[in-house]
Amino acid sequence: MLAERPLVAGNWKMNKLIAEATDFVRELLALAPDFEAVDAVVFPPFTALAATGEALAGSRLGLGGQTMCDNVSGAFTGEISPLMLLDCGAHWVILGHSERRAYNGETDAAINRKVHTALRLGITPIVAVGESAEDHAAGRTHDHVVRQTTAAFEGLTADDVARCVVAYEPIWAIGTGLSDSPPAANRVMEQIRASVAGLEQTRILYGGSVKPENIGAFVAQPHIDGALVGGASLSAQSFYDLMVNARAQE
Ligand code: 13P
Repeated sequence: MLAERPLVAGNWKMNKLIAEATDFVRELLALAPDFEAVDAVVFPPFTALAATGEALAGSRLGLGGQTMCDNVSGAFTGEISPLMLLDCGAHWVILGHSERRAYNGETDAAINRKVHTALRLGITPIVAVGESAEDHAAGRTHDHVVRQTTAAFEGLTADDVARCVVAYEPIWAIGTGLSDSPPAANRVMEQIRASVAGLEQTRILYGGSVKPENIGAFVAQPHIDGALVGGASLSAQSFYDLMVNARAQE
């Protein structure tokens, strides 16, 4: 790990009603009231964002959106403005998650516009990249993730890029229980880090079937600064265990 502190990010995807989200926060804060050894952020669905923001106010737990619009207001039916994220206390956003790319047609160009907008408004983007099983098997991982990464950060200064986070999430590892091996993920992440000026200073997270049992082996790698976690971030106890085990590798 290069960063001062690991980052554990919980992407709840389309899970949790408002009461479940606020219960999670209460439970987690009871387990880890002043946990300073890692940075931790949760990404609830939009409907639970405001209530989750109220529940975690004043704590070290961060809040983010799972996506956002690249425009700040106007005729964009169904979209969520970055100003609305800030209004709920969310200062983070996941951009370019593979599920958004696959099911909502998000393009590299749209993701790039969103990164520019997020930075302009002081929201930290976690830019997600990752190759399919087919690209992985064909040896195209490097070309694919470097193309996604350079496209996402096009037109930004190295200083702006350094304010972002990247998540390397091989699609074949998401929700399958088949995590990448920590050394293999580290090699890809080293290539991502070398692909755009500014990324040498950013945190790069691994994502894809991260659990409390394997997070320590990932953050022990030199280019892995934390994890973007789906399934194992849904229970407060499991999220707390992820935080503890990420810290143990310092
Ligand atoms: P899982 O941790 O459930 O594999 O999901 C990873 C992910 O997509 C996080 O954004």
